Amino acid sequence: MDNIRLTENDELRILDQTLLPSEEKEIRPKTAEDMFEAITSLRVRGAPAIGIFSAYCMYLLAKDIGEAEPRAFYDKLAEYGAYLNSSRPTAVNLSWAIEKMLGAAKNSLDKPRDELLAALRREAVGIHGDDIAKCRAISEYGLTLIRDGDGILTHCNAGPLATSKYGTALGPVLLGTERGMNFRVFADETRPLLQGARLTTYELSRAGVDTTLICDNMASAVMKNGWVQACFVGCDRVAANGDVANKTGTNGVAILARHYGIPFYVLGPTSTIDTNCKTGADIEIELRDPEEIKSKFFAKPVAPSGVKCYNPAFDVTEHALITAIVTEKGICREPYGESLKQLTMDN
Ligand code: MRU
Repeated sequence: MDNIRLTENDELRILDQTLLPSEEKEIRPKTAEDMFEAITSLRVRGAPAIGIFSAYCMYLLAKDIGEAEPRAFYDKLAEYGAYLNSSRPTAVNLSWAIEKMLGAAKNSLDKPRDELLAALRREAVGIHGDDIAKCRAISEYGLTLIRDGDGILTHCNAGPLATSKYGTALGPVLLGTERGMNFRVFADETRPLLQGARLTTYELSRAGVDTTLICDNMASAVMKNGWVQACFVGCDRVAANGDVANKTGTNGVAILARHYGIPFYVLGPTSTIDTNCKTGADIEIELRDPEEIKSKFFAKPVAPSGVKCYNPAFDVTEHALITAIVTEKGICREPYGESLKQLTMDN
């Protein structure tokens, strides 16, 4: 089942990722509020996926605006864009896709409304299609970094559910598996929302990949045992100097990998690179509800109700800990300031 799809009669359907792996159910967000809620509740999640989703949302919301004058139409669409963009702050793909949709609207503003809407639909479908191609290219590049039989450790979920097809961090493994290669993947469970346990193991098992679930705090044990030849993770925003924001806990994995001499690779499309952020310190980190730590997924709360919690959804890994950043345009290495600049020149 596709994670995001726009039907021929323009129904936007998403696989509700909060229900996985026990239930595969599509939902149909219709209003701007439904769409906002789908992103904040992580029914649709992963940086490229929320970009694709928001592009379709912008198209459908544009259809709902009706017969307003061009300026009023654009202002209302920009208002919807600002609203959707405020749902989650860290993944840059969200604002990237919304900006692309607003750009497409601006370019066709003087055209009849049905032509403008057709242009918006094309733009959204194009963003989706491009992501499939980018993930495929990232997977090809990533596959050059590993060998048949390798053990790979991954954190969170950066597979097809978080993108369009193949994924980023899981892409090389899925592509290699299609070609008859064998990998052993260690999936960090990824507290507190368990994207690794619920989603990564679901995707990899279905693809027939040898998958072992571990708690986040077991990563050092499998590394020390010599079972991990490379770490592959995704990214939500890459700063101009190569610092990377990704799911909370990623930085710890990178530090461990450095200690054990294991290459640590970040994989993501160039749309995740934000040259407006000079370093990781400029990246806004989303803080989430403490209840996710204290009570979600447990039959009873695991901590006293009044206890203070700190629940950042992401952390920043310094570029010095990253062996390479793999994009659809190629593999970047230090100095990232230079190598990333080269890649993003024609973005
Ligand atoms: O909070 P989430 O589940 O949206 O976080 C997802 C991640 O951190 C992914 O690693 C990242 O978005 C890259 S997805 C290809």
